[in-house]
Amino acid sequence: GASSSKGAITRNVAQRLEESDYQAVIFWGSQSGTAERFAETLGRECHTRFGINALVADISDYDAESIAELQEKHFAIFLLSTYGEGDPSDNAAGLWDWIKRIKGQATKLKSLRYLAFGLGNSNYKYYNRVLDVVVDALDAAGATPLMPPQRADDAEGATEEDFQSWKDDMFALLRGMGYEQKTVAYQPTVSVEFVEKVHSENDGPVHQVSVHHQQTSLNSAIFPLPVRNSRELFTAGDRNCIHTELDLGNSDLVYKTGDHIGVWPCNPDEEVERLLETLGLSGRRQDTITIAALDDSAKPKVPSGSTLEAALRHHLEICASVSRKTVFDLAQFAPTPEAETMLTRIGQDRTRYEQFTSSTHITLARLLQLSSPLEPWTALPLSFVVENLLSLQPRYYSISSSSVISPRRIALTALVVNKEVADENKSTIHGLTSNYLLSASKLPLNTKVATPTFQHTSTTGGEGGTVFAHVRKSKFKLPITSSTPLILIAAGTGFAPFRAFLAERAKLHALGKPVGRMLLFFGCRSPHSDYIYREELEKLQETLGDKLRIITAFSRDGNNKRVYVQDRVAEESETVLEMLSAGANMYICGKASMAREVDAKLEEAVAQQKGMKESEVKNWTDGLKKRGKWKADVWG
Ligand code: 2AM
Repeated sequence: GASSSKGAITRNVAQRLEESDYQAVIFWGSQSGTAERFAETLGRECHTRFGINALVADISDYDAESIAELQEKHFAIFLLSTYGEGDPSDNAAGLWDWIKRIKGQATKLKSLRYLAFGLGNSNYKYYNRVLDVVVDALDAAGATPLMPPQRADDAEGATEEDFQSWKDDMFALLRGMGYEQKTVAYQPTVSVEFVEKVHSENDGPVHQVSVHHQQTSLNSAIFPLPVRNSRELFTAGDRNCIHTELDLGNSDLVYKTGDHIGVWPCNPDEEVERLLETLGLSGRRQDTITIAALDDSAKPKVPSGSTLEAALRHHLEICASVSRKTVFDLAQFAPTPEAETMLTRIGQDRTRYEQFTSSTHITLARLLQLSSPLEPWTALPLSFVVENLLSLQPRYYSISSSSVISPRRIALTALVVNKEVADENKSTIHGLTSNYLLSASKLPLNTKVATPTFQHTSTTGGEGGTVFAHVRKSKFKLPITSSTPLILIAAGTGFAPFRAFLAERAKLHALGKPVGRMLLFFGCRSPHSDYIYREELEKLQETLGDKLRIITAFSRDGNNKRVYVQDRVAEESETVLEMLSAGANMYICGKASMAREVDAKLEEAVAQQKGMKESEVKNWTDGLKKRGKWKADVWG
């Protein structure tokens, strides 16, 4: 067409398939990148295993209308993720609008043949809603599903595995359709080479900044921030919680109360060493590597010119457990027949893999070591390592300081997560970022858990180490008018943003400004173990007087009955509804499962007290959410 002669690619997907001789299109709708990664893998496998040319497409690169023009000889695959309140990813906005417009057109998509897979988390109320809505709409418009849709559940940590099962079914379908499946030898998508140089240009996290900089989804650049003023909020058994402040100092970072901070961890020394050793590359740790993509879709995960050690420490997610597919694919490079047998057995069988991973934490290095305790994996290509590890991502924390009171210091409140595994060694899985923060805060520890060490803590002096971080804006914001009443609901570290909200309100109150009534629900295990910021709250209570009412829920308080915040919200539902009617803003922060149960209790109360039907309750909650009166900041 006219557009392609100018070098621009058409936005009509049917035309694109036709012009470039594709048999299929794989659309991805992705926010965090998982669906995108799956789409790329699938595209590659369609080609190498079945000889099918599939276009891997960011769904926003095409006009959704043109999906209706796809022909019967083509087929479309939708890999769609669901976020927050059942929302599509940003790049699926066009598809989402179109889906609504094709309602009631029963034959519009009669030539469309498709497959669909959804990514979601069942801790959230609208689990995989995007998949459901899209599939219903396609079917109602006459499209033909080649296979029932399937979904991934991240709550079970099973996203990779669920995708694998769906893919197995899809491959069986393709074989049924007459495509021949070939077994293929390993084909790298990146080349990773050592370069012979004495001095490395890049042996630390510094370069990390420039790579990560390129991520368009970040709201700010990444800066190394000095750690100040850390303290332990509680230690109870294997759980502890820290308060840490990051000095924005001369960095360009700014934040607003309610924003999130993205912390870029590095990997602990032990795991870096283990991987270097099992690869037989300890001696080459300081050697520079260059990495080049051999395939259009391969994304750079490691900046070229890093040392091998820096790549493993700063750029790759080496502490995550490895997927079943990786276990299986590793077998071909095994240094011993025993290792090959073991990996093939586990990699072939979902049940066996699940049993194995439930009793052992298999990072890549641990798996390599376990399957071949004596022989290093010298035949394992570094390209395989880079391809099979994810790039190291930031972890987000709700900021617990107020930008009004503390504009150049960001406080964060982190639960240090350590989980014991039921293997013979009683080994511990250390939460990567919380332990990194703990280590950078250089606290004398009361915790009984042996915590990992990180290189940076031994190389930086002073009060604490430095932490790489950026700010992500959020919509979890106080109302502009200080006299607006507030309902705040939190469990555990979900209290973090409310610490900031309350401090800000207390300051206004002290200055003689009118301040609305505040109702805080806070849940934790017991008043004696994990009631974080209790003294601060008591002071706030003194300052704010009857403006603030605190309602606690303790889930493990001696022999008392377990009480959760949602139970307290239910007990106080008359007050809550009254405040909402009077224009209060409601905020919920904590685990998604908690927020979901709070929602359910509130909806129950509304139905009862206002005599509403289910659909009316939904309109009521939707209305509050649309007007910004009901906000949630939750995590899986
Ligand atoms: P637990 O003792 O049963 O774990 C902070 O972790 C607090 O949040 C704890 O009291 C914890 O209870 C509680 N919590 C955990 N899951 C929850 C849920 N789904 N709803 C409400 N509170 C929850």
